[in-house]
Amino acid sequence: MAHSSETSRAGPGIIDGADAVTPVVLAAMAGTPDPRLREITAALVRHLHAFAREVRLTEPEWEAGIALLNRIGQTTDARHNEAVLMSDVLGLSTLVCLLNNGDAGAAETEAALLGPFWRDGAPPVPNGGSIVRSPTPGPVLFTRGRVTDPAGAPIPDVRIDVWQSSPVGLYENQDPTQADMNLRGTLATDADGRFALRSVKPSGYPVPVHGPAGDLLRAQRRHPFRPAHMHILCVKPGWKTLVTQVFDPDDAHLRSDVVFGVTDRLIGAFVEHGADEAAPEPDLTAPWYSLDHTFVMERGESRLPVPPIP
Ligand code: BEZ
Ligand code: FE
Repeated sequence: MAHSSETSRAGPGIIDGADAVTPVVLAAMAGTPDPRLREITAALVRHLHAFAREVRLTEPEWEAGIALLNRIGQTTDARHNEAVLMSDVLGLSTLVCLLNNGDAGAAETEAALLGPFWRDGAPPVPNGGSIVRSPTPGPVLFTRGRVTDPAGAPIPDVRIDVWQSSPVGLYENQDPTQADMNLRGTLATDADGRFALRSVKPSGYPVPVHGPAGDLLRAQRRHPFRPAHMHILCVKPGWKTLVTQVFDPDDAHLRSDVVFGVTDRLIGAFVEHGADEAAPEPDLTAPWYSLDHTFVMERGESRLPVPPIP
């Protein structure tokens, strides 16, 4: 039967055109008891609907978006987290990281995104030990760190968790030629807040491009590279967990990190040492490198991130 004013059931819950959808959806969700979930889902609906209106999303584009979300899940496995990577290349990870860290003023070390490659449970190494667990060619790097509070006082017994790529630009989970947990390790700061470790100089590398994040980068004519860096996670009860990175200033992609992680204060001093200097360990051949860096933690909640891969 044709629609007529006599048979109309217009009123609450009846969708009367595109403009009616958003308020009806918001009303349907208004009784969510958890206040934070209520706030987040309402804002999500408002912004998602506004986005569809702004670009006037077509049905094929909506289908492509749904296929993209499904492929993100299908591309994720025990060695790779595509959802984290997609968040990274869209700049969302860095935005959330900087929204939630760095509010203690200039002293606190800036945070940087965790990325998709942190693994919980890296084996302990003694302070001053090596995180090289299988033959890994490339120049040796000695990292010496100090962890302090914002006033410069040392913080002892901070658990330091380090992970980095090899000089060919691969993490051990991406590279069958490396031993499990190669270039990963945990150690503790000493009474003076210091830690030291031996590794190899990391290289810049392309992020994985075999999934939808790679398709997006190609469609946007963006390169996939991260500048060379070390990841460092500092954890101690009573202190706000610090997840950060230290970047090599000489890397060609320092100013175009595909995941937007580089801030001015996270650029480190990777110093090259030549044959004219006494080698700190007997097996060294020149050049080798050193990196001295101070990490400043503030008091707060200590929590470990959810590992993106096991
Ligand atoms: C990383 O630094 O390990 C990383 C961050 C984002 C995407 C891919 C890798
Ligand atoms: Fe990395």
